Amino acid sequence: MSELLQIRNIRKSFDTHEKRLLVLDGISFDVREGEFISILGPSGCGKSTLLRIIAGLEKQDEGEVLLRGKRIKGPGQDRAMVFQDYALFPWRTVLGNVLFGLEIRKIPKKEALEKAIRFIKLVGLEGFEKSYPHELSGGMRQRVALARALVCEPEILLMDEPLSALDAQTRNLMQVELVRIWNETKKTIIYVTHNIEEAVYMADRIAVLSRRPAKLLDLVEVNLERPRDRFSKEFIDLRARIFRLIQG
Ligand SMILES: Nc1ncnc2c1ncn2[C@@H]1O[C@H](COP(=O)(O)OP(=O)(O)OP(=O)(O)O)[C@@H](O)[C@H]1O
Ligand SMILES: [Mg+2]
Repeated sequence: MSELLQIRNIRKSFDTHEKRLLVLDGISFDVREGEFISILGPSGCGKSTLLRIIAGLEKQDEGEVLLRGKRIKGPGQDRAMVFQDYALFPWRTVLGNVLFGLEIRKIPKKEALEKAIRFIKLVGLEGFEKSYPHELSGGMRQRVALARALVCEPEILLMDEPLSALDAQTRNLMQVELVRIWNETKKTIIYVTHNIEEAVYMADRIAVLSRRPAKLLDLVEVNLERPRDRFSKEFIDLRARIFRLIQG
């Protein structure tokens, strides 16, 4: 796998009421093409900030993010974001929500419809095209959000704790689904979470961040065969190792 993204010495602070808050303290790592990489770290350490910088929604103070060698200066169609709270349009149906990005891009109606239906099927929502978000469960809403991001065919999917609003069982099921969808679409996924088990279950590699100001503690390779067994010794050992790493 070749390097798709290069994250180089990212520093970022925010001006709060009286003081300057250093959030990211020189973060560097590469993201390989087609990999599932997780950014893991304690709450408030700066994971969302880092993801927003990669998305081009936030500007770093120092450092740069290169996408195929070109510096990221703002949002682009090569990257799509999936948020924790789904951010669906309540007045649009499942199909309407998935079609949205294609309408903005002025994709011809017939082509857009075919695409939307294909991605609704991919995320397992066939038969719910005409449902409204309030008629869906949390897991189903997250599937809609995923289809809406995927339908625009970005190279990179940026996901910020997309499953954290779900109950534990639905969350596990959605992790399995996400790995399947990643396998089928061959997208590069950058997945932010503070949940160690989630990262170990899904990711090829885990960028482990420290407490704020966040530094990269380690880039952990998860050499476990998929589908992964959450109760295997190797799985539990890796969880423990990462837990200790973050605890310091
Ligand atoms: N726009 C902003 N202005 C001021 N401070 C901010 C801003 N955005 C984030 N911060 C601060 O930066 C720090 C990191 O925030 P961030 O949301 O990136 O953390 P996180 O790791 O995603 O946390 P969580 O796991 O709770 O989602 C926090 O202390 C937050 O208060
Ligand atoms: Mg966050």
